[in-house]
Parts: sequence; C-alpha cells; structure tokens
Amino acid sequence: MNLKIALLPGDFIGNEVVAATVEVLNAIAIQYGHTIDFSSGLVGQTAIDQTGEALPEATLNAAKAADAILFGAVGGATQDTKSTVRPEQAILGLRKTFDLFANLRPVKVYEALIESSTLKPEILRGTDMIILRELTSGAYFGKPQGRDGAAGSRTAVDTTFYTEQEVARLMVMAFELARGRKKKVAQADKANVMATGRLWREVAHEVAAEYPDVAYEDVLADACAMHLIRNPRQYDIIATENLFGDILSDEAAMLAGSMGMLPSASLGQNTNRHGFRFGLYEPIHGSAPDIAGKGVANPLATILSAALMMRWSFGLTQEADAMEAAVDKVLMDGYRCGDIAPKGGGDHSNIKIVGTKEMTEAVIARL
Ligand code: IPM
Ligand code: MN
Repeated sequence: MNLKIALLPGDFIGNEVVAATVEVLNAIAIQYGHTIDFSSGLVGQTAIDQTGEALPEATLNAAKAADAILFGAVGGATQDTKSTVRPEQAILGLRKTFDLFANLRPVKVYEALIESSTLKPEILRGTDMIILRELTSGAYFGKPQGRDGAAGSRTAVDTTFYTEQEVARLMVMAFELARGRKKKVAQADKANVMATGRLWREVAHEVAAEYPDVAYEDVLADACAMHLIRNPRQYDIIATENLFGDILSDEAAMLAGSMGMLPSASLGQNTNRHGFRFGLYEPIHGSAPDIAGKGVANPLATILSAALMMRWSFGLTQEADAMEAAVDKVLMDGYRCGDIAPKGGGDHSNIKIVGTKEMTEAVIARL
C-alpha cells in the first residue's frame, strides 16, 4: 500500500517525537512492503516565526493532499495573553478544517509502568478505556468569544454551543466503539448547571435507545473526574464534550503513568484514497519547551499515535498491532524515558533510563 502522510511536527519536542516516529514508520514500511510518501508543513510558533501565521496555507495544502496527518505538538515557550496570533490556532484550525469531530484518547495501564504512576497499583491494574472527546464545537469554537473593555473594566466571553447533530454523531461513535469493546458508555456532562449539558444528556439517551446491547450511564463531569482516580477500571468509553474531554484526558493520562504515553486519533466522516477515515494523529502531551533539544523526550505516545493511524486511516491492523506490541516489549524490557522512570523503592535492576534515540531504536528492534 502507498501511504501519504503529512508530517506537522510543530514546536519544541514535537520535532523530536515526530522524527522518531518517522523512523518507526519507515521500519514498518520495509517489513510489510509498503511505500510511504512523507510531506511536511510548518505549524505553531515555528510557523508564526517564519510566516506570521500558525497554520499557513501551504501546510493546509500538504494536509489536504495526504491520507493522514501525523502531528507533533504546538505551543510557545510562554503564553502571550495579548497576541491575536497563537500557536494553538494551528491545531484548532486543522480540527475544524477537516471536521475531525471525534477525538479518541485510549488510556491503557501498562503492567510494566504500574509503579510509575502516583496512584496505587491495585487501583490501576486492568484499566483500559477510551476517552472520546468532541473536538470541533463547544467552548473552543462557540461565538461570541473575545475580550472587551480597558483596564478596570475588562471583560471576556466564551460560549458553549452545541447542536443536536454534533452531539448525536459523537454519541453514535461512542456506542459503535463500545460494541467492539466492553459494551459500556458513560457520558460526562454538567446537566445540573449547563443547558448544553441537558442537551447532551437528552440526545445521548435517544442514541442509547438504538443500542440496547450497550450499557449506558450519565455522569456529572466533576464526579467523573473523581471516579477516574477512585476506580478507573469501571470505565470503557467516556464520551464527553470538548472542554471536559480536554481536562478529563489529561487526568486519565496520569493513570497510564505519564502524559508521554498517551496517543490520540482525531477522526471525521471524510475518507482518504484508500476508503478509510482521514485522520489526524497526535500525542496528547504538549511541546514541553523545558526539555526540548536535550534528546530526552519520550517518543512512545507519538509512536502509539502512528499505530492508531495504521489501524484507522489505512486498515493495517497487523502493522498497528506490531507497533503496539513493540512498545509493550520495550517497557517489559525495562526501557524508560525520564518521564516514566520508576519512583520510590522496589527492584529497579532491570530498568534502563534512555533518551529519545535509544527508545526509538529499542522499539524498532522489537517490531
Ligand atoms: C489537547 C491540547 C489542545 C487542546 C491545545 C494545545 C489547544 O491541550 O490537544 O488536548 O486544548 O485541545
Ligand atoms: Mn489538552
């Protein structure tokens, strides 16, 4: 198969983790007899510095010509609250342009990493869920949004707006995913406070009626945050709106030990040349300016994102499984980047603390 992949590495460690993942993809291509055409584009602060825009036209064109996008991370070293041009506009623009409404964030606790979490092993063991986050609406895109007034009378407004179609398509995705897994969907909202929460709840119930074989529950988003660390094993699919999904998925990442472990797939209805879903794949972690350029960034979340790409955008299940199994094996064999180094006591004689390059080589050696 010929795979056209647009690489949008972005800022800081985004470059390091995407470069590492390209090596893994090249190894997969050789092993399974595929050809890959990589294109690339500027996004984020790097794009702003060179072109004045976070998502230049040339980047959009590269993305449009591809079957799938591998995205690194965007974000400047500081948050400039005054600027109207911000690196984050790149990822938001891509999500909106391609209508990538469904963001899958699988959270799996690796037995090998169970000691790197700040939570107790007996709470974590067996956790395996997907946070399914709505990605193209809600407070991220609602109008009005903006600032007004001068010092002393400054105001700001964000708007959470949802249509029933936007809720329904996400919930359909949730139930479809659940059917292939543990057949459980929890929908997290703030129906006790927000009108949008009540719409989510109503529409979720209507969709749930079409899937009598799947267990459904409503959960208040704040309570969900609590249940996630109290008893994460109870969840299979957590479906939720954009902003709650952003927050809950960072929280859930810590169940897996580190933000450096969590991949994501952003999918829409559009298909690529191969008849599979066009998608954008990215680690959920940020650009981490503090560790950039040192060769220590953990590439595993991006490698796992590329595995999701194999599965969702190319239907290459064997390749995806091989990549995920290789990540499993490197962890079993004791390879750790700094973010997943074991904390506290216990036997660490098997542990090897490595940088991006050695971690990548270790994965490739186990494909
Ligand atoms: C994420 C990120 C983004 C978001 C930022 C970079 C705009 O935190 O993908 O979770 O808030 O969606
Ligand atoms: Mn986030």
